[in-house]
Amino acid sequence: MNKKIGILSAGGDCPGINATIRGVGKTAIVEYGMEVIGILDGFSGLIYNDYLPLEEKMLSGILNLGGTILGTSREKPFKKKDNDPIADKPLLIKQNYDKLGLDALVCIGGNGTQKTAGQLAQLGLHVVGIPKTIDNDVWGTDVTFGFDTAVQIASEAIDRLHSTANSHKRVMVIEVMGHKAGWLALYSGMASGGDVILIPELEYDLDRVNEVLLNRSKKGKPYSIVVVAEGIEVPDGRRAGEYIAQSIQESTRLETRETVLGYIQRGGSPSPMDRILSTRLGSYAADLIHREEFGMMAAIRDNQAVAVPLSEVGGKTRLVPEDHYLITEGRKMGVFFGSPAS
Ligand code: F6P
Repeated sequence: MNKKIGILSAGGDCPGINATIRGVGKTAIVEYGMEVIGILDGFSGLIYNDYLPLEEKMLSGILNLGGTILGTSREKPFKKKDNDPIADKPLLIKQNYDKLGLDALVCIGGNGTQKTAGQLAQLGLHVVGIPKTIDNDVWGTDVTFGFDTAVQIASEAIDRLHSTANSHKRVMVIEVMGHKAGWLALYSGMASGGDVILIPELEYDLDRVNEVLLNRSKKGKPYSIVVVAEGIEVPDGRRAGEYIAQSIQESTRLETRETVLGYIQRGGSPSPMDRILSTRLGSYAADLIHREEFGMMAAIRDNQAVAVPLSEVGGKTRLVPEDHYLITEGRKMGVFFGSPAS
């Protein structure tokens, strides 16, 4: 009997989700003759039974489309909330999964989603996860789709800030996303000639940062670019970019401006590399379902598509290693990462 599968996207969106839905759906329908439905708005769709049938024609024309045609939400069914009208969301999800006659569920999402997917797998649902996020921080895979596009967007923005910084002889502080990880700041900072790059994985000393900026000014360099990951440690209630920019201006008296790139990093069409990655992971997830390899996350390791047990993924974050080659090479070129190498 042909299988019936559901696909959902959960958590923050990113470029490439639609390409992934297309990759899963087309492979499932064309290669394996499966029936596919789209669950709407992440895990909420499974709680409230919101879904739509995904015929093959609906999967055409979405490869380069940003966002997600299925919608998303940050619903965490295993997180208990006071006064929640639904007492047992995981149980309801299991009942709805059975009622829909699903043979498998594909969960496209970041760390939180993969954790929930693993918990649903433990309840007996046939789950396959696919990692996504601009933060590139999902444990178990070398890369997530969305990241390449976000690096491109952030790098283009930082490129533009060089010229205005130069004209006004300013220090430009740019805050980029990344949650608790520094991948996006590291890659976009290195790709666009950042002079100082601060990431959560490396401690920073503001006095040293100021010293570096003043030295650049003394050497006759008219401006500086400081790329700051949103997840660095700052005093309570302060935004990373705002705090760093204000501290630099107060201590160095160099004119300093701050730019928060924000949600622009998540919007719009995926880069060709992200389309390829999404297509590949989507198609591989359909293969896993066909082979009945459940409780797994489709991942990329050493450029190979592999299946990683969801039980190993949940609750972990993939951070930038302190000896990452971009940090080592950046230091050799005079890029300052907040403190000297230890
Ligand atoms: O996980 C991706 C991400 O873009 C993070 O970098 C950021 O901190 C977070 O989502 C913010 O998203 P939201 O406001 O949708 O929760």
